[in-house]
Amino acid sequence: MDKLGERVTIAMDGPAGSGKSTVARRVAEKLGLLYLDSGAMYRAVTVLAIQHKTQTNIDKLIELVKACEIAFDDNGKKIFLNSSNISDQIRTPEVNRLVADIAKVPEIRKEIVRHQQKIGAGGGIIAEGRDLTTVVFPHADFKIYLDASVQERAKRRFTELQSQNVDTTLDSVEDEIRTRDEKDTSREHSPLRAAEDAIQVDTTGKSIDEVVDFIVGIVAD
Ligand code: CDP
Repeated sequence: MDKLGERVTIAMDGPAGSGKSTVARRVAEKLGLLYLDSGAMYRAVTVLAIQHKTQTNIDKLIELVKACEIAFDDNGKKIFLNSSNISDQIRTPEVNRLVADIAKVPEIRKEIVRHQQKIGAGGGIIAEGRDLTTVVFPHADFKIYLDASVQERAKRRFTELQSQNVDTTLDSVEDEIRTRDEKDTSREHSPLRAAEDAIQVDTTGKSIDEVVDFIVGIVAD
C-alpha cells in the first residue's frame, strides 16, 4: 500500500472509447487523486482555434495558445478557457473532427505538456490521454494502456452520444474513431502507443467497475 495515497502518479493512455475518462475519474474518486483529462486541453485549444478562426493559421494559433489560460474545476469535470466555462463546447462534432490535426502540432504540444507537468508536479494524480505514459509522465508509478476493439469503442461512444441526444449513427461514430485513431497513432510527434513498461488492459467485454477494481487493486497491492 506504500504507493497509495497523496503522492502516487498514475498515467494512462489509450484510443477513443477505450474507457479512459470514466475509469480514471472513478479511480480518482476511490483513491482521492486529482484527475487530469489531457484530451480536454487539446479540445480547449481547438475551441480557441474555432473562436479565432485560426484552424488553418497555425502560427497565429501557437501565439494564442502561449497567451491563453486553461484551467480545470470540480476535479476535471469543468474546463475553462480564459475564464469562460467551455465544458460543453469541447465535445461537439466539429471539435471531434478538428482536434487531432491541431494536437499534432509540436509547438502546441510543448505548451500543453508543460502545463500538464506543472499540474502533476506534486503527484497525487491520475492523468489520461495519448502520451501520458510516454512523454508527459514517463516516470509515473503506474502506467496503464487501455484498449478495446474498434466496434466496441464505437458502440460505447454512440450510446454516450445518444444519451446526450446527439443526432448521429453508429457507422459515422465508428468512422470518426477510425480516422482519429489513424491520425493519433501515425503522427510524427508523440504518437499514441503503449509504453514498453505499461500494463495493457483490454476492456472489450469488461464493465467499468471491473476495470476500475483491477487498477485500484494494482495500486493498492
Ligand atoms: O475522449 P476521446 O478519447 O475521444 O478523446 P480525448 O481524450 O478527449 O482526446 C481528443 C484528441 O486530443 C485525441 O484524439 C488526440 O488527437 C488529442 N490528444 C493528444 O494528442 N494527446 C493527449 N494526451 C490527449 C489527447
